[in-house]
Amino acid sequence: MRNLINILDLTTEEIEELIAVANDIIANPAKYSEKCRGKKLATLFFEPSTRTRLSFESAMYELGGNVIGFSAAQNSSAAKGESVADTAKTISCYADIIAMRHPKEGAPLVAAMNSTIPVINAGDGGHNHPTQTLTDLLTINREKGRFNNLTVGLCGDLKFGRTVHSLITALSRYSGIKFVLISPEELKLPSYVKKDILQKNNIEYVQTTSLEEYMPELDILYMTRVQRERFFNEEDYLRLKDSYILTMDKLATAKSDLTIMHPLPRVNEISVDIDNDPRACYFKQVLYGKFIRMALILKLLEVE
Ligand code: CP
Repeated sequence: MRNLINILDLTTEEIEELIAVANDIIANPAKYSEKCRGKKLATLFFEPSTRTRLSFESAMYELGGNVIGFSAAQNSSAAKGESVADTAKTISCYADIIAMRHPKEGAPLVAAMNSTIPVINAGDGGHNHPTQTLTDLLTINREKGRFNNLTVGLCGDLKFGRTVHSLITALSRYSGIKFVLISPEELKLPSYVKKDILQKNNIEYVQTTSLEEYMPELDILYMTRVQRERFFNEEDYLRLKDSYILTMDKLATAKSDLTIMHPLPRVNEISVDIDNDPRACYFKQVLYGKFIRMALILKLLEVE
């Protein structure tokens, strides 16, 4: 039985197979409409979500399966003090696969250790978000056609932004990747990601506070929101929240084939007038998230 807790739980070959299946689902959706008939997905969301939870649920319905679950901790027996381990043992009696989001880093791993069905990490605190990374990789595959030889700007909250940590981990397995890490001093990439991923794999990177300086070099610009829910102090959030706002003016020096990504939700980081620019890919990302999660459910349920 396989789980997906960290993006490194999948080999590059397995990720490329998932992308191939997702592309086939996009081309031939009817072929997949009965693949999970009789199967149940449990979505256990202890933290708010729009895209991840609803794309998992859409994915399972479009595979012909069913969905059970809860969308907030207070709607579950966690509110009465039940542990993640006991929740996982319980849900194993009702469903075939679990997608779990939790504010505590490592909670989906604890669930996997106590579950008899596959567990997917749908985001754990400021740690990882591997299915967002699969979404991002499918987007890059469809927009750029390659994962090698890309200069990727990551901008915003690189400290608490779990999607950034997982994407850096995944792309560091490819050659010719350069990261431009754009953040305020207080929201720099955690040193464990720099040490264990970037330095260990000899990945080229620069750290800067200036988006404008590096804009002309970028093939991909991955904007992120400042993660209000991870701050200890509201004053710090208010001071940092608008550190980077992407506007049409700032895109003046960008490549004509720049791919602009954002895991969403957006607060102020991208001006809405950019949404109609052909380089804006963040709503395509939303759609691709459903297809790659369909491919992942099929893989973890070992459906042919
Ligand atoms: N990208 C993402 O995880 O969005 P949600 O928080 O809406 O699931």
